[in-house]
Amino acid sequence: MSGSHPILSGSAASIAAYQQAITQSTQAVVDWLQQPEMYRGKTVAELRDSIQLHFNAEGLGNQAAIARAVALFLKDSLAVHHPQCVAHLHCPSLVISQAAEVLINATNQSMDSWDQSPSATIIEITLVEWLRGLVGYQPGDAGVFTSGGTQSNLMGLMLARDAFFARRGHSVQQQGLIGDLSKIKVLCSAQAHFSVQKNMALMGLGYQSVIAVKTDNVARMDVHDLAEKLAQATARGEQVMAIVATAGTTDAGAIDPLAEIAAMAAEHQIWLHVDAAWGGALLLSEQYRHYLDGLELADSVTLDFHKQFFQTISCGAFLLKDARHYDLMRYQAAYLNSDFDEAQGVPNLVSKSLQTTRRFDALKLWMGLEALGKKQYAAIIDNGIRLAQDVAQFITGCLDLELVMKPQLASVLFRVRPGQVPAADVALLNQQTADALLASGSANVGVTEVNGITCLKLTLLNPTVCLEDVEVLLASVVQTARQLLDQR
Ligand SMILES: Cc1ncc(COP(=O)(O)O)c(C=O)c1O
Repeated sequence: MSGSHPILSGSAASIAAYQQAITQSTQAVVDWLQQPEMYRGKTVAELRDSIQLHFNAEGLGNQAAIARAVALFLKDSLAVHHPQCVAHLHCPSLVISQAAEVLINATNQSMDSWDQSPSATIIEITLVEWLRGLVGYQPGDAGVFTSGGTQSNLMGLMLARDAFFARRGHSVQQQGLIGDLSKIKVLCSAQAHFSVQKNMALMGLGYQSVIAVKTDNVARMDVHDLAEKLAQATARGEQVMAIVATAGTTDAGAIDPLAEIAAMAAEHQIWLHVDAAWGGALLLSEQYRHYLDGLELADSVTLDFHKQFFQTISCGAFLLKDARHYDLMRYQAAYLNSDFDEAQGVPNLVSKSLQTTRRFDALKLWMGLEALGKKQYAAIIDNGIRLAQDVAQFITGCLDLELVMKPQLASVLFRVRPGQVPAADVALLNQQTADALLASGSANVGVTEVNGITCLKLTLLNPTVCLEDVEVLLASVVQTARQLLDQR
């Protein structure tokens, strides 16, 4: 029978339907969590064959729809919490984050206006004020939660662009882009996240606007090359609207020299945005907080809590040093943030966000901070960084493995290279090894390219993983590579 009480409400029938649906779903999750496999190993073609939408005149009802989702989705999901699941900056989630999701989803608050999210708006503002303090900004509430690093980087770049034009007496918001746009540039390291390019293209300035600064031997921005690229741009008659520094590059976890870059940006009056999507986690670290010295000098900062803060997707934040810059994107919608409401001091977050309707993701971080406390949060962040150092040391002692770069945060870049493999085949062997491990369902190891070298990547965020787990993984990497060689 189709669900006769489809809407969540206070009626007894709806509450009973809600409890049944949630109990059935959580029980399915509990069963799934106890599966030993990381992935059941289905291929793209197999999933394509088995996954089909059932949308007929009569619905299946909640119970059957949940059962189908368990069969089609849950059972062939990737177990992100599995110790051998280490390919990406994709974290296992905190239990408290799951509980927060229940509250967020059931209440379905929307963060655009206070009348749609009264307590939630105040919680988010309070958290933004706290995060600003953590970064070292002046007290204030300029900042907002975002869908993640890409959107936060877009906000930083967009405000940098609009501030650049505003200094020249032009409002991009009102009049759009003008002039020779091919002369407007952004400088970031060659290892900066690709969202810089994508966002510049989205903003009408194209990939051509991004000048890549060289990196040093551990993937940090080379400040001498930054100075040189700045001078070259100026000599060509170009104008640099922003420098993007990265605190925690996606592969190497490299943190650019923030204070030196900030000094250069200040000297040339250029907006500095710091993408701390990964490294921002060190704000809570006991041992490594000083890696972020200079972050407070940035005009804007990206933080991302669905990486090493262990929150469920999505959960990010954008922080803006000088609140006045928010005027550059301000829009007043009579139905959301009217003059009348604002004159009475009614807060609204729509004027700080690119989104209108928006999830209350801030609650996850709020509850995570309260549940774990300073010591435990610091411990689970620092654990990954220390583990990466131990793993790197282990790899240097292995005959068939080669460390490609010294770890900085919680990632390890290495390659498998049994002695008999010709140099030209090493890249392909590494790629095939990672593919074979995923196809067998036993491990998910990243494949990337660093300084032209194809290598494997372990992103060791999971605080429950220990060196012995990684040794098991590395043994299967070597064994799989050897089997592939034998089959050739
Ligand atoms: C350094 C960095 N910045 C930004 C992003 C994009 O973040 P998101 O995937 O949350 O949009 C990533 C993603 O891995 C990243 O590593």
